[in-house]
Amino acid sequence: MKVLVLFYSMYGHVEKMARAVAEGVQSVEGVELVLRRAEEFQEILDEKGEDKHFREARERQEDVPVCTLDDLDQADGILLGTPTRYGNMTAQMKRLLDATASLWTRGAMEGKPVGVFTSTATTHGGQETTLLSSMIPLLHLGMIIVGVPYSTPGMLHTEGRGGTPYGASTLAGSDNSLQPREEDLEIARAQGRRVAEVTRRLRG
Ligand SMILES: Cc1cc2nc3c(=O)[nH]c(=O)nc-3n(C[C@H](O)[C@H](O)[C@H](O)COP(=O)(O)O)c2cc1C
Repeated sequence: MKVLVLFYSMYGHVEKMARAVAEGVQSVEGVELVLRRAEEFQEILDEKGEDKHFREARERQEDVPVCTLDDLDQADGILLGTPTRYGNMTAQMKRLLDATASLWTRGAMEGKPVGVFTSTATTHGGQETTLLSSMIPLLHLGMIIVGVPYSTPGMLHTEGRGGTPYGASTLAGSDNSLQPREEDLEIARAQGRRVAEVTRRLRG
């Protein structure tokens, strides 16, 4: 049984969250982790190739293969992570989802559990809108949304950090200088574990 952790990350915050989500997936017996990233746009590579933070984040992701339609097809469950862009998912992630018509027509994604996670620059920069709007294409594909229950440690708080019932999240800061806090990573691990457990129950 395969659980795909799919992410896009320009500066590494969502990548760190994805690796924590992956740890959670791997903690569930009988589930195989598949870690993939959404491909970068050539124009971003051209524009940001010399940017130190961008380059470092890309180097850290070099071990992660680009996600293919076969990866989506073969996954039994999925966790999808994207930073926000004006309150929505990134175009890099959307491009991949917009290429899934062949999967949609044969119902290949129907019944697969899926969870979403994100990163924003600022506290009210759109975590919830990004997570909720990311669910729309996944519902069209017939997937079963899995969130984060409030019984998960660290969820009930009023601090400047992530953790929503719609999915794990973190704050990058307006100059991307913040790092995911341990509480954010722990919620990400819990979400990965939960999606993997639901996947095993539904499709095992
Ligand atoms: C075009 C663009 C739009 C963005 N829009 C928002 C936004 O609406 N709200 C916000 O808090 N951050 C916004 N950001 C900041 C990113 O979400 C932030 O850099 C990201 O969460 C960092 O994650 P990463 O390190 O995984 O790339 C935007 C960044 C870019 C480049």
